[in-house]
Amino acid sequence: MNNDNRVIIFDTTLRDGEQSPGASMTRDEKLRIAKQLEKMRVDVIEAGFAIASPGDFESVKAIAEAVTESRVCSLSRALDADIDRAGEALINAAMGRIHTFIATSPIHMKYKLQMEPDQVVEQAVKAVTRARNLIDDVEFSLEDASRSELDFMCRIIEKVIDAGARTINIPDTVGYAVPGEFAHTISQLIQRVPNADKAIFSVHCHNDLGLAVANSLAAVGAGARQVECTINGLGERAGNASLEEIVMAIRTRKDSLGVETNIDTTQIVPASRLVSSVTGFPVQPNKAIVGANAFAHESGIHQDGVLKHRETYEIMTAQDVGWNTNRMVLGKLSGRAAFRSRLEELGTTFSSDLELNNAFSRFKELADKKHEIFDEDLVALVSDTRASANSEQFKLSSLSVTSQTGETPKANIVMQVGDEEKSAEATGGGPVDAAFKAIESIAESGASLQIYSVNAVTEGTDSQGEVTVRLEKGGRIVNGLGADTDIIIASAKAYIHALNMLDANVQKAHPQV
Ligand code: KIV
Ligand code: ZN
Repeated sequence: MNNDNRVIIFDTTLRDGEQSPGASMTRDEKLRIAKQLEKMRVDVIEAGFAIASPGDFESVKAIAEAVTESRVCSLSRALDADIDRAGEALINAAMGRIHTFIATSPIHMKYKLQMEPDQVVEQAVKAVTRARNLIDDVEFSLEDASRSELDFMCRIIEKVIDAGARTINIPDTVGYAVPGEFAHTISQLIQRVPNADKAIFSVHCHNDLGLAVANSLAAVGAGARQVECTINGLGERAGNASLEEIVMAIRTRKDSLGVETNIDTTQIVPASRLVSSVTGFPVQPNKAIVGANAFAHESGIHQDGVLKHRETYEIMTAQDVGWNTNRMVLGKLSGRAAFRSRLEELGTTFSSDLELNNAFSRFKELADKKHEIFDEDLVALVSDTRASANSEQFKLSSLSVTSQTGETPKANIVMQVGDEEKSAEATGGGPVDAAFKAIESIAESGASLQIYSVNAVTEGTDSQGEVTVRLEKGGRIVNGLGADTDIIIASAKAYIHALNMLDANVQKAHPQV
């Protein structure tokens, strides 16, 4: 296959994915995910929106410095300050890209931008020209393209390509497109824009109607050669097109689609797990490719067929996407060097000896309780250790819970609040409820609990439980994480982590507002 048949995979988990309520990630978490994406051979990593906050700027900069095999990109509105900030964050990138955008639909131009179409064209050209003065790889997006007029899109695209944009992205920002119509738009743009051959056409589809992957693949059929997507389909509202589904559809149906990607598909499941563990967003069991049931054959007829000839019911193997790497990696007698090296293979590096030592002593505690330690345990353990280390205001000192048939569950908690030690007792409908009430009686956050979920990290009753607690206060949503073989303790840790995140009160700009 020649280059015309290569689809560029542009991952925006760290930018659009992070716009999902409660999915905010720290710089170190983003770095871990970026290293995993690089290992998976993602072509372009959208590392963030540099002007959104000082934290976002630092994350884009750190990723641009650490990643050398993938191109690192920062989003920027079509504004001078945004573009300059993106350029600054990418200054040390081995391969960098500025991605600038402006809305082009009548409804966005009239109500959101309050600009005339000619002014929008002028601002877009100015933005691309400014970005090209900072970097040689510039992408331009027509926000809300699927509700924009074709003639206007042709006009603006021709001008921004003349100004130096080398990728033209056609987003279905509100998830409104349907496959046939979207494919028609892409082929019309490629045919009608006179200088279309000087740019790669890209698509960026949201999943509001559950059509993000279908629309992206239809666009590829019509000539798009970059797809923007996210791990686990994370993203604003209903999410973005899911990377694993796009990549595996392209690979499995090469006969029909006639294109390929450069992705190392065996890194897909580890990437999915990492993103789920960092964000606290569990993957639904029946999710294609990365769900726990995606390769499980329950019915006797299916099992029989697969045993006789795998392809009777399987169109790809679990190994192709990185399942079954699930093996016992470390045990009670493993040393620090083995621990560090396995985590490095999983994409985690420690920023200091103290951090390594903390994680290693947690590992030893876990190995005492759990006979076999799997990769999944290590990933959960590191997320948990980092969540506790970031707990500035509230820290769990001890927790005891009594739960007995016929008795009301009761929790006694001791917590460090700043420099003070505080204790509380509470009863509840169950042991977790009692523990949360005891914590809340100390913290008095007034936050409301939106999601409480527990996931077993591995098989067996000695598995660590990984808990997500989502709290909401004054419109801000945060996800707290905790992992422990005792799920009540994991739950308390997750609640306290969420309280600390609320306390940190990070404010950042949203690109589309
Ligand atoms: O959905 C969208 O339109 C976006 C753009 C900023 C590319 O995320
Ligand atoms: Zn988007």
